[in-house]
Parts: sequence; C-alpha cells; structure tokens
Amino acid sequence: MKNILVTGGLGYIGSHTVVALQQAGFNVTIIDDLSNSQLEVWEKITSITGIQPKYYNIDLKDLHAVNIFFQSNVIDGVIHFAAYKAVGESVEKPLMYYRNNLMGLLNLLEVMDENKVDHFIFSSSCTVYGQADKMPINESTPLKKPESPYGNTKKMGEEIIEDFVKATNKKAIALRYFNPVGAHDSALIGEVPNGIPNNLIPYVTQTAMQIRERLGVFGNDYETRDGTAVRDYIDVNDLAEAHVKAIQRLLAGKNKSNLEFFNLGSGTGSTVLEIVDAFEKANNIKIPYEIKPRRAGDIVEAYADYSLAQNELGWQPKTSLQNSMQTAWAFQQSLTDNL
Ligand code: WQD
Repeated sequence: MKNILVTGGLGYIGSHTVVALQQAGFNVTIIDDLSNSQLEVWEKITSITGIQPKYYNIDLKDLHAVNIFFQSNVIDGVIHFAAYKAVGESVEKPLMYYRNNLMGLLNLLEVMDENKVDHFIFSSSCTVYGQADKMPINESTPLKKPESPYGNTKKMGEEIIEDFVKATNKKAIALRYFNPVGAHDSALIGEVPNGIPNNLIPYVTQTAMQIRERLGVFGNDYETRDGTAVRDYIDVNDLAEAHVKAIQRLLAGKNKSNLEFFNLGSGTGSTVLEIVDAFEKANNIKIPYEIKPRRAGDIVEAYADYSLAQNELGWQPKTSLQNSMQTAWAFQQSLTDNL
C-alpha cells in the first residue's frame, strides 16, 4: 500500500481528495495547521471511508517540524494543498501570502529531497493564465502575471517546482483548477468559508440560508451573453479524482516529463446569472440578488480545455452543474454554525 501525504488535507479540496485516495486504496497521512479548516473534518473523513487517516497539526513554515515528520514517516508521494487562498486578503497582506505559500512549499520540497521522496502534486490555479486572449484555455495558453499576490504565489510555486525537478530529477504535476464547487454526497464535508464569503457559491448558499440578505452580482456590463462574468465551475469530487489519477501516474512512472501541467475544469463557461439560475432550479429556492459594480481584479471569462487531462490522466468531469448545486446546498444546510 502506497503512503501519500496530503498537506491541507482538512481543507475543502484536500478533504475530498483524502476520501478519494482512501477509497482508491492509498494509505493517507494529513498535515494541516487548521488555519482555514476544522479538526472535525478529520472525523467526517473517517466516517465517510471507515478508515481514520493519520493526522498531524504541523505548520509547514516550521522546517524543524516538517523534518521530524519526514524522518518518522515513510512517504511515497506528496499532494500539497496547504496554502492561503483569499484573493482580496492577499492584496492587503502580500507578505503574509508570500511567506506562507512559498515558505511552506520550499520547506516541503527541501525535506522531500533530503528524505528521498520523489513524487509531488501541486495545487495550482487557472489564475496563472490571467485574462487569456482565447477560449477555451489550454496548457499552451501563455501565462500572465496574476492580478493578486495569491495568484502570484501559484505562478511562483510552479516556477520553483520547475527548477527543483530539473535539479533533483524528482517528478511533479501541477494541477490548475478552475472554480471548484459542490460538496461530498454525504454532506459531511464541503466548503466552509471564513467570514463573509468571497467566492460565488458560498455566497449563494448563505443567501439561500438567509444568512446573507442578497447576493451582489459583480458587474453586468461585461461583453458576455448576459453581461455577467464567465467562469468554469468544476465539481470538487471530480477534482479529487484527478489527484488520485495524477499521483497514480507519477507512482507508475507514466509521466512524460519531470513537471507536467494539467487544466482541471468542466470545459463549460457559465455566467454568474446562469449559476444563480442553476442553483435556483436545482434546489427550488429563489436567490435574491442585485447588480453591483465590477469587482477589482476580476477577469471577463475563463473556461478550460481539459483534453490534456483527459488524454494523459484518463480523467474527465462526471458531475453535472445541477448535482454540484444540490450538494453545495445540502452541505450548507448541514452546517450548524453558519457564521
Ligand atoms: C466567480 C464569479 C465574481 C462573488 C477565485 C480566485 C481563483 C480561484 C477561485 C481559489 C466572478 C462573481 C462572486 C459574489 C459575484 N482560487 N461573484 N458575487 O474570482 O473566479 O476565482 O476563486 O482558491 O484563483 O481568483 O471566483 O467565486 O470569487 O467568483 O458576482 O458575491 O462570481 O465576480 O465573476 P474567481 P469567485
């Protein structure tokens, strides 16, 4: 049985990936410092799969602690989610983002190298493409300097890994997620935003819950079919599956270069108003909304060409937008502490 370390394994995408890894027969160990996650997620994972993963509360900025972890655990591959991810906050506190996201990555790579751990999966983001000139976005689409320090930590992270694998002959895959949505079918794990949600779906589910009075739609004067911005919403369970396939690829030595990049999206662009409509129809609930000014830093549209992931990883999205809207709502309703 292969041993996989999942950093940030109690977070939104991390927890779904831990479940998928366990269900695929991997032995999973989680590191998470609970900076944007809850310890209860550990129990929830265990009740979904019937297997308790090992869990350590370690801050990846603590090189000594990371070192001790690797010296006392046999690890075959690492899936690295642990990072800060709030775009707006990163603009206000850039150094906190660079320090946390980059130092965590550097410490992890350094210690992996010392302990001869060869396989690494990195959580990257479609934000590395900025506003692309052509849709859909494939992996040859030119990268742009991201709008936010958060986005920049993802781009810099990819560059650090690129230089690292060249020097060490390690194998890595960077997965560039579009907009993750939905929750596990069990409604036990899902996205738990910190404070007032920045992302669209948590704001929609909290509005449906009447925690928020109405959704603000940021701009309806974009050059799109209804004037609102277009994104590619990809189900979190589908994302989790892609991580299983990516680590299996590396462990089987099927990678074609030391660092590969894959876009993970649904392949379909949806406008903000289409998402509101999809949520309303899927759950039979009205979402009150008002049009607000455009949000600074937002792009007009982004959606993925995922054919490389399909051809190379044998991955494709399976979950409908309707289903994602239903699981997102079921999870929101299951939360007792909503604020
Ligand atoms: C989606 C659309 C908003 C909230 C960000 C990061 C990206 C990735 C995912 C995560 C946009 C509109 C939103 C609201 C709205 N990283 N919106 N009202 O901005 O595409 O991507 O999250 O870790 O790197 O940049 O996602 O969900 O914030 O917004 O109208 O209250 O919904 O303007 O068009 P985004 P989002």
